[in-house]
Amino acid sequence: MGRFRNVRQNLQDCECGGVDRSRGARPVRRRAGRSGRRLYPPVDARPGCRDRRAAFRRTGRSGPGCRRSGVSRRRPALRTFARRPVVSPSLRPPAAVRRRLDRAAAARTRRPPPLSGVRPVTLYGLARPALFRIDAETAHGLTLKALATGLVPACVPADPRLAVNRLGLAFPNPIGIAAGFDKNGEVPDAILRIGFGFAEVGTVTPQPQAGNPKPRVFRLPRDRAVINRLGFNNQGHAALRARLIDRRGRGGIVGVNIGANKDTVDRAADYVAGIEAFADLASYFTVNISSPNTVGLRDLQARAALGDLLARTLAARDDAATRHGRRVPVLLKIAPDLDAHGLEDVAAEALDKKVDGIIVSNTTLSREHLVEPAARETGGLSGRPLFLRSTAMLARMRLMVGPDMVLVGVGGVDSAETAFAKITAGADLVQIYTGLVYEGPGLVRSILDGLARQVRRDRLGSIAEAVGSEARRWAEAAG
Ligand SMILES: Cc1cc2nc3c(=O)[nH]c(=O)nc-3n(C[C@H](O)[C@H](O)[C@H](O)COP(=O)(O)O)c2cc1C
Repeated sequence: MGRFRNVRQNLQDCECGGVDRSRGARPVRRRAGRSGRRLYPPVDARPGCRDRRAAFRRTGRSGPGCRRSGVSRRRPALRTFARRPVVSPSLRPPAAVRRRLDRAAAARTRRPPPLSGVRPVTLYGLARPALFRIDAETAHGLTLKALATGLVPACVPADPRLAVNRLGLAFPNPIGIAAGFDKNGEVPDAILRIGFGFAEVGTVTPQPQAGNPKPRVFRLPRDRAVINRLGFNNQGHAALRARLIDRRGRGGIVGVNIGANKDTVDRAADYVAGIEAFADLASYFTVNISSPNTVGLRDLQARAALGDLLARTLAARDDAATRHGRRVPVLLKIAPDLDAHGLEDVAAEALDKKVDGIIVSNTTLSREHLVEPAARETGGLSGRPLFLRSTAMLARMRLMVGPDMVLVGVGGVDSAETAFAKITAGADLVQIYTGLVYEGPGLVRSILDGLARQVRRDRLGSIAEAVGSEARRWAEAAG
């Protein structure tokens, strides 16, 4: 409770001036050729802007009555955020302290480093054009093979203030790989070695299945997005189980994301089978009912169906806990396309059934603001265009479920700034997939370094202190 009281206090204390006008937070001129993408709503939102949708429209134009005289009305590109020393308004120190800090900062000649740091030229950056000429799914297969060689450089441990203790697990840092990257559990140890605080394998179904016909994964480079309609292609429970047995004793947090076969007659029974198959191996379970690529799967989010599914799944978990002597936390992964009612229903059922956590969110069916022709492809959209939608939904979920339930923020994270925004919107933990496609494995290190800088800058004892500090403003950003 204490943590949320702090958050509420932060929200009450927050200066609603929106943009941090302190040194270094001057409006940044947009670079030629860059899109007029907006800053995160909590930073960009201004009081008096009744029309929130207008306030957050991507065109870079303010709504009526929302102008700030003397300030450029052009919105800076998302990446320009990295060049400014941003401290979220609700976490800023009091004015007197701030003045002292400003004076000290002015005495220094160089600007504080941006959250994301300077992006070095990386091997991945050099290889990416060649990789992008290959079909996306084939390229992903090559990436998995490269990781499986084990010849991946180990990442130095993250700042201890990034450690997170939730779900009864000690996460060395809050950044994890999202489901779908390693569906069959081939490379969880390589993923942990490159710096991720946890890995989620799957989605795995009881029986192996081929998924939809190829091609079924499409890059949208100018949108920094991916569309996939894989359809739960995976090798099934037995293959994943064998691999997890092989790595037993190696440590590290490895969650198992479970799903249902396409042609199953009793979907809930497939989830129960997933719990039974991995209860002695999984660090946590994710019940994935939000993939748009299995017809009817998302219907499990409707209240009655969800109540039944959760009751059966959690009962199976409790039975298995008695057998194996370990209670595995169960998280629910939801779609970003739920309407307000749907979201309330999910929150109510999750609280009622005492689910351990919620992952917000899976891919979206929405196709707003995309420029690439591949936007016409059927499937779930991930990456940068999902960021605002999924983050606003995460914040609304945080306000609905309160401080105790674990929330995992996923969707469009591709920098330290976007990762930190998820945390301030309410995420205890953050996951990434599409960001890796565009930024490469070095993204993990750069996010961890940026978060460590933010923690130092905001004088936080732990990253957990920032969780939900901007939830209300993010929730409002949803309109
Ligand atoms: C190619 C691809 C495959 C995915 N497969 C799964 C999956 O099997 N299970 C699942 O829960 N989510 C799956 N996802 C969704 C991701 O886990 C994540 O929720 C989503 O992509 C949003 O995060 P991002 O914007 O960082 O990619 C997949 C995403 C992509 C791009």
